[in-house]
Amino acid sequence: MNNKLIAPSILAADFANLQRDIEMVNNSEADWFHIDVMDGLFVPNISFGMPVIKAIAKHANKTLDTHLMIVDPDRYIQDFADLGVDILTVHYEACTHLHRTIQAIKAAGMQAGVALNPHTSISVLEEVIKDIDVVLIMSVNPGFGGQSFIENTYKKISQLKELILANNATTLIEIDGGVNGDNAKKLVAAGADVLVAGSYIFGSDNSKETISDLKNKIS
Ligand code: DX5
Ligand code: ZN
Repeated sequence: MNNKLIAPSILAADFANLQRDIEMVNNSEADWFHIDVMDGLFVPNISFGMPVIKAIAKHANKTLDTHLMIVDPDRYIQDFADLGVDILTVHYEACTHLHRTIQAIKAAGMQAGVALNPHTSISVLEEVIKDIDVVLIMSVNPGFGGQSFIENTYKKISQLKELILANNATTLIEIDGGVNGDNAKKLVAAGADVLVAGSYIFGSDNSKETISDLKNKIS
């Protein structure tokens, strides 16, 4: 089986001890940093922006996976590239010209991700799947950490896996929202490659150990 990845979501970290939490992830078995950017328009919540990501990038020593929950993400593609972001994920629902946006992300030297809300069908990606490095399936409605996992996600993972195989694509499948020790194995069995987890990791007594347990469950 390929190596399956864990991406702790910094949204659930202690922002007053951000450096401590970043070092914890650096020294853990986690693979990516998942960074949630919310604008208060695309989603009802506001998280953080460039200065905080700059600080994270300064200390983080793993892949920076940035999930933009913002309208008109094209305006900021170069800014995120300049900050050292590795994977830039935009929402399908926020992009009028998704193909152009994907190409612009790649032209800026980053990998391109596309996120789908729970109500959005996998089929909308048929014409662009070969161009996408990562598809992020939202398994909660975006905007907040700590929500309950939506069970329909398993079906969407299978559909996406079929689409990827049918196109001979190498796209990774990332799952975001409500991931925990109970559903991790089943998500990977369904076809997931990357699991984002926020409250499950940072809300536990020993986050580093929780990451290690999660990693063991999926390898
Ligand atoms: C939600 C964010 C998620 C969130 C996940 O809109 O995209 O990345 O941090 O948090 P948990 O794992 O707590 O559901
Ligand atoms: Zn996210």
